Amino acid sequence: MLRNDTESYGLLAILFHWIIAAIFMGQILLGYLMVRTSDFALQFSLFQWHKSFGFLILVLSGVRLLWRMANPRPRDIAGMSRMERSAAHLTHGVLYLALFLIPLTGWALASSSPLQIPTFAFNLIVIPPLPLTISDQAEAFWTASHAWLAYISSLVAAAHMSAALHHHFWKKDAVLRRMLSWHSRARTAAQKDTRS
Ligand code: HEM
Ligand code: HEM
Repeated sequence: MLRNDTESYGLLAILFHWIIAAIFMGQILLGYLMVRTSDFALQFSLFQWHKSFGFLILVLSGVRLLWRMANPRPRDIAGMSRMERSAAHLTHGVLYLALFLIPLTGWALASSSPLQIPTFAFNLIVIPPLPLTISDQAEAFWTASHAWLAYISSLVAAAHMSAALHHHFWKKDAVLRRMLSWHSRARTAAQKDTRS
């Protein structure tokens, strides 16, 4: 149940997907709002939450990638064209990359800022700065990289989400269902049992 097989995602892959997806979407919204507030105390607190959840995504994505490598990858759903398969694989690859590059550029921007504001992940762990040049120019570079990567990736995630909904409601295939339920193997086996 925990592990993937060649037909379906296991519980752990599904949990990783939805927990990380939810935090990712929350981070985009939080990031957008926090840089636009003029209340300094609120902004400081929102920055700390944003950095904390950003680090959480980085750690969870690392563990998720290791888990993915230790598991079989579910086969593509039958009936998808070669182009659809390539587009899906490319999108997943880009999203995996984004889950590492966005937090890393966020970490870089906090580390290169002349303000050197410390990062306390969830008020528990002090995150050390990366050994990078500290200057206004370096901070501006990493801030722009972070923002561009975040907004471009959110467009890719929106396309990914639309594709999943298209499969579910239009093509009525199992693409979304198998990311929602880890019982498919049990159910298929049970159906086979009742038929035989
Ligand atoms: C997947 C995780 C993350 C996402 C999706 C994300 C997204 C964003 C977004 C959308 C913004 C607003 C950009 C703008 O409109 O200018 C932002 C700003 C910011 N992020 Fe992140 N972020 C993530 C992780 C992190 C991490 C790990 C850190 C630091 C350790 C961080 C530090 C910051 C800071 C300091 C800003 C404000 C930059 C400024 O002063 O303009 N972020 N982020
Ligand atoms: C409501 C929003 C979302 C929906 C409906 C959704 C749906 C899905 C579905 C159905 C799959 C399985 C595709 C397949 O079996 O070929 C999948 C895989 C994936 N999704 Fe999402 N997703 C959403 C949001 C996100 C977000 C925000 C991210 C990351 C930023 C993300 C990253 C991924 C990745 C990396 C995979 C590949 C998983 C693997 O094979 O290891 N998804 N998603």
